[in-house]
Amino acid sequence: MKDFNIAVIPGDGIGKEVVSEAVRVLETAAELHGGLTFHFTHYPWNCDYYLEHGVMMPEDGLDRLKTHDAIFLGAVGDPNKVPDHISLWGLLIHIRRSFEQVVNIRPAKHIKGVRSPLRDPKDFDFIVVRENSEGEYSESGGRIHQGGDQIAVQNAVFTKKGTRRAMDYAFMLAEKRRRHVTSATKSNGIVHSMPFWDEVFQETAQDYPHINTRKVHIDALAAFLVSQPEAFDVIVASNLFGDILTDIGAAIMGSIGIAPSANINLNGKYPSMFEPVHGSAPDIAGKGIANPIGQMWTAKMMLDHFGENELGDQLLSAMESVLESGIKTPDLGGKATTKEVTEAVISKLKNSF
Ligand code: NAI
Ligand code: MG
Repeated sequence: MKDFNIAVIPGDGIGKEVVSEAVRVLETAAELHGGLTFHFTHYPWNCDYYLEHGVMMPEDGLDRLKTHDAIFLGAVGDPNKVPDHISLWGLLIHIRRSFEQVVNIRPAKHIKGVRSPLRDPKDFDFIVVRENSEGEYSESGGRIHQGGDQIAVQNAVFTKKGTRRAMDYAFMLAEKRRRHVTSATKSNGIVHSMPFWDEVFQETAQDYPHINTRKVHIDALAAFLVSQPEAFDVIVASNLFGDILTDIGAAIMGSIGIAPSANINLNGKYPSMFEPVHGSAPDIAGKGIANPIGQMWTAKMMLDHFGENELGDQLLSAMESVLESGIKTPDLGGKATTKEVTEAVISKLKNSF
């Protein structure tokens, strides 16, 4: 019997609505599997908590989270109650930074029954591994002088360690998929950091001789994700390039309500965090019509992370067949409620055992 201790932070708005549904799905999955148990501990840290306590999480919040195998998060933010920079930095970004979640991963897959903005989408299924701790988003640099003499300098910082660990993650992920890694580069224009990136990529590739590789400049790669997304399996990218590519990935999938993501801690010192791409959607919160698929797909990523890939795949297939059968929330053009979609996924999952 394998036991997993999961910290659950539903957060604000629809976060609360979709997390409870995804937890029900995870409980069902564990029951059907037979050899798994999940222990869920709920943490009510959100904007209401801030209004009551003046902080987004208690002082020992990180210590409490640290004891878990993973963090399962909904969405944080309620701009009518608390300014976004306070709620985001006080909870989400605080966790990502403190827990050294140095890699962000986001899959993009064509789902039948979901309208992609692409005219004739093939069966694309790729995953972007984004270096999430350094690169272009560094605090190194500064501004000097006034008026017409102003100068701004922003340094991109690439370390061998940071680059290598993201690439190793990408290659190991590719081993479990279609064994292909594409590196997003721009060594023809950025003449110091990107040739370095290419060198580390080549060096890493030598350690995984059975994985095929390809190197594509970021501008061409952005275009390819629109014109031939089916050509990619795993893509490894720097912080900025990965940020852009993952937004393209979510866009061609057709809805923000279905896109999942994971922030991965690689040194095993802290838990990784799993969260959907979408926010707390105040405009539809409380109506019972939030799309729970993004949160459930996030649960699938957590199962994969635990090494339960088979169960994760079963869950994804269940979600896909529900969407294909037309049981969808209004954001996807359907009429179903959050709970109806969940019931349908649970019943498909049961049938698959
Ligand atoms: P949002 O993602 O919450 O909503 C954007 C639009 O997509 C809205 O029209 C919403 O109704 C729709 N939408 C999003 N998720 C949906 C779902 N599951 N089902 C159906 N429709 C869905 O982004 P927005 O409005 O910019 O931000 C709202 C709040 O969420 C802000 O406080 C923001 O800071 C926060 N936020 C938090 C994130 C996080 O916790 N990781 C990420 C993005 C935003
Ligand atoms: Mg972005």
